Amino acid sequence: MEIQYITKPLSEIEAELELVLVVGKNFEHPFVKNYKKTLEVLGFSGNQDETALLIESKKLFVGCDTLKGKDIRSAIASAIRSILDKDIASVKLATYTNYNKCTASIKALAEGLALGSYSFTIYKSQPKEPKLQTIYISNESYNDKNIEESKIKDAITRALNIAQAVNFVRDIVNTPPDDFYPKIMAKTAKELAKENNLECEILKEEEIKEEKMNALLAVARASRHEPRVIHLSYKPKNPKAVVSIIGKGLTYDSGGLSLKPSNFMLTMKLDKSGGAAVLGILQAVSALGLDIEVHGFIGAVENMIGGNAYKPDDVLTAKNGKTIEVKNTDAEGRLVLADVLCYAQEKVKADVIIDIATLTGACVVGLGEYTFGVMGKNEDLIDKMLHAANISAGEDAAYLPMNRHLKKGLKSTIADISNVSSSRYGGAITAAMFLEEFIKEENKEKWLHLDIAGPAFNESAWGENPAGGSGVSVRSVVSFLQKLQDNKH
Ligand code: BES
Ligand code: ZN
Ligand code: ZN
Repeated sequence: MEIQYITKPLSEIEAELELVLVVGKNFEHPFVKNYKKTLEVLGFSGNQDETALLIESKKLFVGCDTLKGKDIRSAIASAIRSILDKDIASVKLATYTNYNKCTASIKALAEGLALGSYSFTIYKSQPKEPKLQTIYISNESYNDKNIEESKIKDAITRALNIAQAVNFVRDIVNTPPDDFYPKIMAKTAKELAKENNLECEILKEEEIKEEKMNALLAVARASRHEPRVIHLSYKPKNPKAVVSIIGKGLTYDSGGLSLKPSNFMLTMKLDKSGGAAVLGILQAVSALGLDIEVHGFIGAVENMIGGNAYKPDDVLTAKNGKTIEVKNTDAEGRLVLADVLCYAQEKVKADVIIDIATLTGACVVGLGEYTFGVMGKNEDLIDKMLHAANISAGEDAAYLPMNRHLKKGLKSTIADISNVSSSRYGGAITAAMFLEEFIKEENKEKWLHLDIAGPAFNESAWGENPAGGSGVSVRSVVSFLQKLQDNKH
């Protein structure tokens, strides 16, 4: 599918359908006025993301509460998704902007188009060919706001780069676990590195042993698939800052001997979403040419059962020498991350360290399935991440505060720390406090933890997110990095 910007009014662009946003239920706008009656008859009230297809009139209407990026992205994606199974090859639409000179809504519009047209059909024996071929964005403006053409084109290109990275992550997350295991994660990283001029180092089992990443190795032990530790780096000439991003890449999480019930195990191919996001972020930063040095680290592991499995009651020694009592083998992500966080800090002296993980069901219970959790020790970094997510990228993120009293639950009588809390409460936070044990003293203020367990995978589509893998956190982290670059100019 191709997205083209054209400097022609809508009337001069030939397309099978015109996509029209009904903004703030304004049915009097010249784009909408003539169809007001028909839309009324159809019961269309212009609610956010509500669509109405008037095929005879060649119009597709979608409700959009405001001209803010978040609403535009969601409305456009919903509209596009609603016609993916229809025999429509070309669509045109106007440019929608909030203010003069403001390209944020244009960027959101283009992201909406590219994210909304995502589909994952390769596992169908007879996949339907995607019908939609071309989308034309006209320079005709919804409200006569004028933006320089080069700025519009630039915003569209950036949006398409980011959306491509998100769709790449969705493909990875959606791929079944028998086809996407640690070795494939490493292969995907190598290919990505080749295409984008990144450095790529892969640690196999022997090297992981040499690095004394024994917590990660314990989780991996019962799987027929050997683990991999992946290190990708993007090194621009004059970086404004150095950032390390660490992803949980559990290509499958059966729970291990603390086996998940079958209905909880289903969808656990999603547990590689953090690692996949790291790949997507590296793809995006290199496509955008950001002036930030970015290192991606992924612990790619499969958590399985068997005679060789690690057990509740085992005591593991992580890379930094801390001992961990295993009380639940399903709290495996933090064990993998513990070692990879140590490794990342040893390898790279970063200004910011971000880990991304589908870490806890508790985070989903606390925030709901649409919102990811942001944790850390540095309020300024937390604020920046929340702003990048909720305002710039249009992803939903919320702060979960650390609490020293919760720390007690992680005490172990036999080892330095236990891998699960003794309390049922505050599970997302106790998981973050476990990870904090593996952040060096001098790095505590540089660290952010993103728990994406909720929005990483969707039962059904919402906003710009399709059913299945969402690619969540890529847009937020890329916005965060972009801001980091811009503020250091
Ligand atoms: N991968 C899961 C967390 C998860 C749950 C992700 C639901 C996405 C949706 C993680 O490894 C896990 O199983 N965590 C346990 C921790 C518990 C044993 C302390 C959980 O949340 O139940
Ligand atoms: Zn688990
Ligand atoms: Zn897990």
